Amino acid sequence: MDLPDDAAVWRLDEERALVLTTDFFTPVVDDAYDYGAIAAANSLSDVYAMGGQPFLALNIAALPPSLPSTLLSEIIRGGAEKAREAGVVIAGGHTIQDQEPKYGLVVIGFVDPHKMLTKSGAHMGDRLVLTKPLGFGVTTTALKREIVAPEDLAEAVGWMKKLNRSASLLAVETGLSGGTDITGYSLMGHGCEVADASRVRLHFVNNKIPFISGARRYAEAGTFPGGAWDNQAFYGSRVHFKANLDEAARMLLFDPQTSGGLLLAVAPEKMASLIELAANLEQPVWEIGEVIAGDGIEVV
Ligand code: CO
Ligand code: CO
Repeated sequence: MDLPDDAAVWRLDEERALVLTTDFFTPVVDDAYDYGAIAAANSLSDVYAMGGQPFLALNIAALPPSLPSTLLSEIIRGGAEKAREAGVVIAGGHTIQDQEPKYGLVVIGFVDPHKMLTKSGAHMGDRLVLTKPLGFGVTTTALKREIVAPEDLAEAVGWMKKLNRSASLLAVETGLSGGTDITGYSLMGHGCEVADASRVRLHFVNNKIPFISGARRYAEAGTFPGGAWDNQAFYGSRVHFKANLDEAARMLLFDPQTSGGLLLAVAPEKMASLIELAANLEQPVWEIGEVIAGDGIEVV
């Protein structure tokens, strides 16, 4: 517990540590089942981001008394089925009344302390690999503003529901030590956390960074959630744009993600085996930059 990381870790013995985390949020999509599944995948993600394996969870929910009970049960069913897919048992939980719905999980997992992924584990020369594309924030904001194309929303929902389990397995099996998940603080914010904890600078190549189909279009229309501006205000001074990127392209890098992928630091000599294992696991990977000397982030 010396450095802030994705989850709390409590060592039990030489081989085992407990990983504890919780997360919950207001609906990002209209479909109750998808909302439950996305919230569960997102809650489980911080265990995966530590290289751990979740095994037990509790529901936490705040729901309006006026919400039809069918919607409530769809949220819980979405969460339960996602947990089951992860091999996790939901052992109970707690629900209170609130005007705006909130749902998520408390999650407990195990990690081998020798195989843990941390924000401080990136080293100079490592390649930076991302396991989901970006653009979920702008796309779900387009939904809220009623300008989203159904196929763009479906693409975002598909990615947000995807567990980071195979991405985590990929990292652990490849023997990586540096990684985190990309969530509310965006690629730039979580990248800054890795840069700080590892005492390095992250060098990203903008045209290698993957985005879902509608992201660029919604960004050009200025459809950013408030969190993107917060991220830019908080982390912007640490991000050095060396390429001539327009406002939309810059802001997309500050777009908060819900249930985003893992950002992994991979030693160059491990890249070939990582790519081979990723193909076997059917886990997409994108190489988007590298770790260099210095601090903060540069984008070319
Ligand atoms: Co995290
Ligand atoms: Co988190």
